Amino acid sequence: MGKVIAGNWKMHHGPAAAAAFFSRFRPRAALDSVEILFFPPDLSLAVSMETVGVPAGFGVQNIHPEKAGPFTGETSGEMAREAGARFALIGHSERRHIFGESDAEVSAKAGAAVRAGLVPVICVGELLEERRAGLLEPVLRRQIGAIVASVATASRFMVAYEPVWAIGTGETATPGDAAEAHAIVRSALGELGAAPILYGGSVKPGNAASLMTAPDVDGVLVGGASLDPDVFARIAEAGATAGSGDPVGGTWSAG
Ligand code: PGA
Repeated sequence: MGKVIAGNWKMHHGPAAAAAFFSRFRPRAALDSVEILFFPPDLSLAVSMETVGVPAGFGVQNIHPEKAGPFTGETSGEMAREAGARFALIGHSERRHIFGESDAEVSAKAGAAVRAGLVPVICVGELLEERRAGLLEPVLRRQIGAIVASVATASRFMVAYEPVWAIGTGETATPGDAAEAHAIVRSALGELGAAPILYGGSVKPGNAASLMTAPDVDGVLVGGASLDPDVFARIAEAGATAGSGDPVGGTWSAG
């Protein structure tokens, strides 16, 4: 399976900056050997899709569980799909820890993404104090347990393991840490365990290749280092190298 290289722009790159990014984003990798995904802010989605210039998928960073209604400031999965998104980040750690999303809300959003025809990319990961207390496995099992039923009928979904202590901090899990956590996630997914599992948390060009050659690491979800087109291109190139030899198109699909 080719590696998935996903960029989560968070609240960066409005429409003008998004177009400027794509005027420069030209990875030298064999792009049929990686799957590149972008998660721009909603208001930059349209211009991103118009200006991208290379094969890539697009998604939104969050959705509301309902299709429509009196929820000021929110966007539904159906609206995202209509606007051209094919993927949705669900339960990103900033959603969980800054905006207080519970496992139940994450589960509802995962189900809503499936209902809307989006591929959910479900984010899980432990806090530093949970890791220190030896709670890595129970936390991951709880977070995965909360979404398994919601994605059971999905034609496709992915999980992103992002240790909260590694997000935006420059601290990266070692390839061994990532492999250990990914194996737990795969086991917790049970019969859905063939889904791609991405690693996220301070991924950079210098660590991307070693992370992506670790067992069970099917790609990366990149925040800060996805904002610069040259830096993100180098991560895509690392993914092409790390995934060489893998047949493309093997990404898990029940449909
Ligand atoms: P980071 O963010 O690469 O800046 O650590 C990753 C993420 O939050 O998805």
